[in-house]
Amino acid sequence: MKKLTKLLALLFLITSFVSIQISLSNAQPPLIDPYSFFHIIPNPDGSITRIKEFYPTVPPNTSSTIAFSRDVPLDPVKKTWVRLYLPNKSEHDFNLPIIVFAHGGGFIILSTATPSVDSFLSNTANKLNVLVVSVEYRLAPEHRLPAAYDDVLDALYWVKENKDEWVSNYGDASRCILMGESVGGNIAYNVGLRASVLTRELQPLVIRGLVLIQPFFGGSNPNRVKYGNLQKMIDFLWHLSLPLGANLNNPYFNPMFGGGSRNLDNIKSLGWRIAIAGCDGDFIFDRQVEVFEFFKKQGVNVIRNFGKGFYHGVFIGNSTKAQELYQFVRNVFSPYITW
Ligand SMILES: *[C@@H]1O[C@H](CO)[C@@H](O)[C@H](O)[C@H]1NC(C)=O
Ligand SMILES: *[C@@H]1O[C@H](CO)[C@@H](O)[C@H](O)[C@H]1NC(C)=O
Ligand SMILES: *[C@@H]1O[C@H](CO)[C@@H](O)[C@H](O)[C@H]1NC(C)=O
Repeated sequence: MKKLTKLLALLFLITSFVSIQISLSNAQPPLIDPYSFFHIIPNPDGSITRIKEFYPTVPPNTSSTIAFSRDVPLDPVKKTWVRLYLPNKSEHDFNLPIIVFAHGGGFIILSTATPSVDSFLSNTANKLNVLVVSVEYRLAPEHRLPAAYDDVLDALYWVKENKDEWVSNYGDASRCILMGESVGGNIAYNVGLRASVLTRELQPLVIRGLVLIQPFFGGSNPNRVKYGNLQKMIDFLWHLSLPLGANLNNPYFNPMFGGGSRNLDNIKSLGWRIAIAGCDGDFIFDRQVEVFEFFKKQGVNVIRNFGKGFYHGVFIGNSTKAQELYQFVRNVFSPYITW
């Protein structure tokens, strides 16, 4: 029964993300095929087809009371791009802190243009009064990790270059935060590790910290058995996204691997703050707790906002929880960042 509840929570995550209606009573938890579960079809060449009707997208919004958005190519060869969000405000529309964002979707599906993600980011720009740069990174299995990490790092260089009119007119690259949700939290963390040794190259861009919203990590995991079939779904995502031949004993998967990255020392000495938001109804919550405790033990300035109940994806899907998140982010970075 517990497994069923957790699987339903995962279903909720997917349905809330892509706005599809699955009749929960029709779900067959013990036997469900992960391909049909994620609405993807495997192809002989190793790629997958994402069934379009389950993955709607919305165009950028040029007239809004909340925030304006624009799509800008990032790397034409890789076909990556960014969606920028600028709050619609008459005042303070300059020198905004910049949030570089990575969306969720198990590394294999979804987009910054997914309606729920797009709407969340529009509100993020407005409520935090920031310029958001959301990265349309390459998906697995066509582009396995570290492709997504490479693409978000590209976006940091793109911001640094300051050629875009919104970035130069309204953004302040010296107050930059890397933020991500679900696998986006994993991406933000791994890109943060890399960026922590590139501070000189990235100037005038300065990262002040990371916001990891229900980050998707794996672990040495004494609880693997406990998750049962749900764990099979999670393993499926890793199987499609980790480099070919890599096993789960891997630093992308597990931040604690080998005692943790040596770059954590840079994050520490740079004074970055790491904000982690989660809730105990999330099926991967215990991993977030584990990672939080680990960062703390390493002496990293990590702050948590862990609540009760809810489910994976709630901060994107529920605007009340999103407000809580904005308040948390504000508290963590004030007065270190003046908003
Ligand atoms: C910006 O928001 C205001 C209301 O706050 C609205 O009147 C105005 O039309 C919006 N601007 C655009 C270009 O949509
Ligand atoms: C743009 O955002 C406004 C909310 O401010 C919404 O009412 C409108 O439908 C959006 N337009 C598009 C094309 O999404
Ligand atoms: C959203 O979250 C709030 C609490 O933060 C809760 O009261 C409300 O029921 C939630 N809405 C949905 C649709 O889950």
